[in-house]
Amino acid sequence: MTKDYFIDFLTKTDHRLVTKWLHYFDVYAAELGHLQNKDITFLEIGIFRGGSIPMWGGYFGKGSKLVFADIDPACRALADPGVNIEMGDQSDPVFLKQLAERHGPFDVIIDDGGHKMDQQTISFENLWPAVKDGGQYLVEDTHTSYWPGFGGGYQEPASFVEYAKRLVDQMHSWYTDQDDIFPLSQMARELAYVHFFDSIVALKKDLKRTPPVTITSQNGKIGRSRKALEVRGRKSIF
Ligand SMILES: C[S@@+](CC[C@H](N)C(=O)[O-])C[C@H]1O[C@@H](n2cnc3c(N)ncnc32)[C@H](O)[C@@H]1O
Repeated sequence: MTKDYFIDFLTKTDHRLVTKWLHYFDVYAAELGHLQNKDITFLEIGIFRGGSIPMWGGYFGKGSKLVFADIDPACRALADPGVNIEMGDQSDPVFLKQLAERHGPFDVIIDDGGHKMDQQTISFENLWPAVKDGGQYLVEDTHTSYWPGFGGGYQEPASFVEYAKRLVDQMHSWYTDQDDIFPLSQMARELAYVHFFDSIVALKKDLKRTPPVTITSQNGKIGRSRKALEVRGRKSIF
């Protein structure tokens, strides 16, 4: 998977401005490369001057359902035929619920909206349930987690980067028996990974997750066990 498509796209843009950090194209190739030319259901929050509408339109399969959302009604005029445009506030759970009901579930959601902490967190919490099994959720411009003007700051608990670090804890919540201070999280059952890139956090859903097993093999005899979890991990699941 390469970033060639995105570099090539830059030479084919129309009047609709696209603005991206250059290194995002590597992230797109790494995270979404397996979906190039595939028919998927896609949502991006944040339209601005509309440049990402044709960019994603040309990247995914022609049979894809593409949805773009923004709070600015002027963005409606930027749609391509067949593309769904929704107007609303990404920090409004009612709007997000309607978005999910009308267009979900989604294979991919990208949050490239207002980049404020409450917007990113509220959007994630309300839209993560609308991500398909095996689907992905990308939050862009997470350097705003370090900008006080966006509600961020170094190790600011309300920042999205700190929120995502807590998701990493939750993903590992099988492995401790500290029920009182660190209960088993549903995220252990559905979060496959949290990838931290410079300015992008990418998460993948896997609803097939079960309490992890160790696998052994000796002389061709294969063994499976949850002994390590029983001894050191979440005893309350046994
Ligand atoms: C970074 S731009 C989007 C750029 C676009 N995705 C692209 O790649 O060219 C951010 C957009 O988020 C929108 N936005 C800001 N706050 C929002 C909110 N609360 N809900 C929805 N959209 C919002 C702005 O109107 C703006 O159009």
